[in-house]
This record gives sequence, C-alpha cells and structure tokens, in this order.
Amino acid sequence: MSEPLPAGEIERVAVVGAGTMGHGIAQVIAGAGLQVTLVDVSDQALEAALERVRRSLGRMVKAGRISEEQAEGARARIVPSTDLESAAGDAQHVVETVIEDLEAKQQVLGRLDALCASEVIFASNTSQFSISRLAAATSRPDRVIGSHWFNPPPMMDLIEVVRGVATSQQTLEVTLGLAERYGRQTVVCKKDTQGFITSRLISTLALEAMRILEEGIADVEDINRACVLAFNHAMGPLDTIDFSGLDTTLKVAEAMTSHYGERFMAPQNLRTLVAAGHLGAKSGRGFRDYEKA
Ligand SMILES: NC(=O)c1ccc[n+]([C@@H]2O[C@H](COP(=O)([O-])OP(=O)(O)OC[C@H]3O[C@@H](n4cnc5c(N)ncnc54)[C@H](O)[C@@H]3O)[C@@H](O)[C@H]2O)c1
Repeated sequence: MSEPLPAGEIERVAVVGAGTMGHGIAQVIAGAGLQVTLVDVSDQALEAALERVRRSLGRMVKAGRISEEQAEGARARIVPSTDLESAAGDAQHVVETVIEDLEAKQQVLGRLDALCASEVIFASNTSQFSISRLAAATSRPDRVIGSHWFNPPPMMDLIEVVRGVATSQQTLEVTLGLAERYGRQTVVCKKDTQGFITSRLISTLALEAMRILEEGIADVEDINRACVLAFNHAMGPLDTIDFSGLDTTLKVAEAMTSHYGERFMAPQNLRTLVAAGHLGAKSGRGFRDYEKA
C-alpha cells in the first residue's frame, strides 16, 4: 500500500456529486489550478453545474476578484463526467459530495474504494454523518476524512476538517495542505461526532427559527433581519435554509435527531414544505417565493 501523495503533488481531483455544493467545490479547486473531474449520475445535474460555475466565475470577473483569463482557465480545468470508473481511476484525490444519505454515501465510497489507487484520500463533504461510519464502507479508513465546505464554496472561507477514529495524521496533514492550496481556512473537529462543530451550532439556530415562524411569533422577513442585525450574520437562518436546500436541512435534522434525540427534531413546517416539493431557491420556492423575485 503506497503512502498518500503530499498536498503539493496532487494535481487531479475527482469531485463526486455535482449539486448545490459539488459545482462550487469544483470551481474553487479548479480556480486553484488543479484539474477536476466533476462526476454525477445525472447529465442534467452536470449541465446545470457547469452553467452555475460559468455564472459564478462571470460574477467574480465583474467584481474584479479574478481576470477573464483566470475564469476561463478555471472553467476549462473542470471536465464533467458520468463515468465514475474512469474518473476514479485517474484521480489523485476524491471529494465525495453526493446527497446527504448515509446509504448512498457508503455505496459511493465503497465503489470508489474498489476503483481508486490505494494511496488516494477520500474527503467527504457530509454535513453531519460520522466519518468513521463512512470510512467503514472502505478498506482504507485511515485515508477517509471529513472536509466540510460551506455554501457557496467560492465565497466561504472555511473548511471544517473532521477526523474519524482511524484517520491518519498524514491524511489530516494532506487535507489541511490542500485547503491551504485552495485558499481556505480550516478548523479541525478532533473527535468524530455527529454534526461536528458547525452543523450542531447552525442546526440549533435554524430549527429554532423555523419554530418561531411556525408558532406565528414573527414572519420570515423579521426572523432573518433579527439575525442579520442583532448577530451580524451575513444572511438570516430561513434564507440560509432556502439557499442550502430544505431537503438537505430535513435530512440533517432527521439524522441529528436519531443521534441526539428530540433537541434536533424537524418542525412540521419544514416537513410540509419538503413534502410539497418546496426545497428552497433550487426549486423556486422555500420559505420565500423565488419565482416572484
Ligand atoms: N447544501 C448545503 O448548503 C451544504 C453545505 C455543506 C455541506 N453539504 C453537504 O454536501 C453534500 C451534497 O449536498 P448538496 O446540497 O450539494 O446536495 P444536492 O442534492 O444539491 O446534490 C447532490 C448531487 O449528488 C448527485 N448524486 C446522487 N447520487 C450520486 C452518485 N451515486 N454518484 C454521483 N452523484 C450522485 C445528485 O444527482 C445531485 O446532483 C451533502 O453531504 C450535504 O450534507 C451541503
């Protein structure tokens, strides 16, 4: 079994899952000069992802954050693919960012384990699942780590790095080194625990915001404004949920509840909106109506 490549020598990354997070993660990694294969099961998701990357890079050029050439270079370094086998075979590092479903993630990691070279590290972008549980789906638990990005990745500085019980020191160091190459700051969650640091904290605020709405105490606008103006948050919690996806928020709440009990239980309004297909900005409606906007 070979040693993981040092962060400075990794040039080809597979990002598996091209949804809300995958396209933005691919954009940041390609922006740092690495080659990215962006993998999804859906051609439609890949097309939408590339369009979102194009638009995001365009906004960054307009804002003077990057040049036209840098944007073009980043865009050209992202190759979309539905062929996990060839993407995995070629990758020196993998970011797993498929839907927040334990079985789906374990299945993808198990397949990657069979397809990737033995030195390749798998960095999962899960918001809250135990890294050790994900790692157990592979034969390389020492090379599986949590690397939790924030939405939208091109705008957010932090990657929360999470150690599973078997994650090696070398895997941690490579992951921290890659984050530095991507121009991101890191915090390390030393102990593998459901929800890590950030999802435990943000879930309490988000769930309470939904309960305040459900109890008729304040409307969407004022709940959001309260957090922006009182706590200096860049965005209110209900807008954050709309932007992250109500379905992902519900999945996180359910998994956190199964671990910690009723303190993370999803309110009825979240369940109802998800059941109605109102998943937030991505579906046109969540706590706000984006079709009218
Ligand atoms: N949305 C957020 O704000 C946010 C923030 C931080 C972390 N996360 C985490 O990032 C991960 C992805 O979340 P998202 O919001 O991007 O979800 P999403 O539903 O927007 O996208 C998931 C993508 O994964 C694809 N997919 C499903 N199964 C696949 C497979 N077997 N192989 C390849 N692709 C597959 C889907 O087609 C979809 O395009 C989750 O673990 C989530 O918890 C999300």
